[in-house]
Amino acid sequence: MYGIINRAIEDMVTASHGENAWMQIKAASGVQVDYFLSNEPYDDEMTYKLVAASSEVLQIPMSEVLSAFGEWWVLKTGREKYGGLMEAGGKNLQEFLLNLPMFHSRIMLFYPRLNPPEFRIGTITESSIEVHYYSTRKGLHHFVLGLLQGLAKMYHTPVTIQVLSMQSEPETHEIFQVNW
Ligand code: HEM
Repeated sequence: MYGIINRAIEDMVTASHGENAWMQIKAASGVQVDYFLSNEPYDDEMTYKLVAASSEVLQIPMSEVLSAFGEWWVLKTGREKYGGLMEAGGKNLQEFLLNLPMFHSRIMLFYPRLNPPEFRIGTITESSIEVHYYSTRKGLHHFVLGLLQGLAKMYHTPVTIQVLSMQSEPETHEIFQVNW
């Protein structure tokens, strides 16, 4: 994944637990890169190792590290570094979710080697939208939950999220029902 992801993990950990904690995590992960370049792709393995080491060093379950990172990605990285893009995503949560299938195609303009997730919209009711998430990657379920919660917070729209189905073979396909 592009280095911006690993840098955002570093930013989140440093903000909540300090620089020393991040140094310990880097050492425990075995990742040898001193400084991640935002617009350079790195092996996915590095990101997974950094998340696993964060969980181990901070004694927080991996699922919580991933969901906290999902929220951080939307509320901090997205809004602070890509405010215009996030705002263009929709004027409310419902609109943002409906536009989600197109979202990463804009991001590919500045990250051309992106291997993005795919989103599709399923059943829509007056109080819910079904978001289908497809990926070549595995294990990011709680990251997606955190992203969706982050979007709900961004739009000050309290939601509950129901997981309708989870499939990881041959590729990841998960269905999230976002209810408000
Ligand atoms: C301006 C905001 C955003 C930017 C710049 C961005 C950019 C990226 C980048 C660079 C990656 C790593 C993939 C790679 O390097 O190959 C990624 C992955 C991902 N993004 Fe976004 N993204 C943004 C917003 C969102 C939002 C709002 C969602 C969903 C609600 C989302 C869902 C994901 C997921 C689930 C992945 C993990 C990859 C996978 O599942 O295969 N992103 N994004």
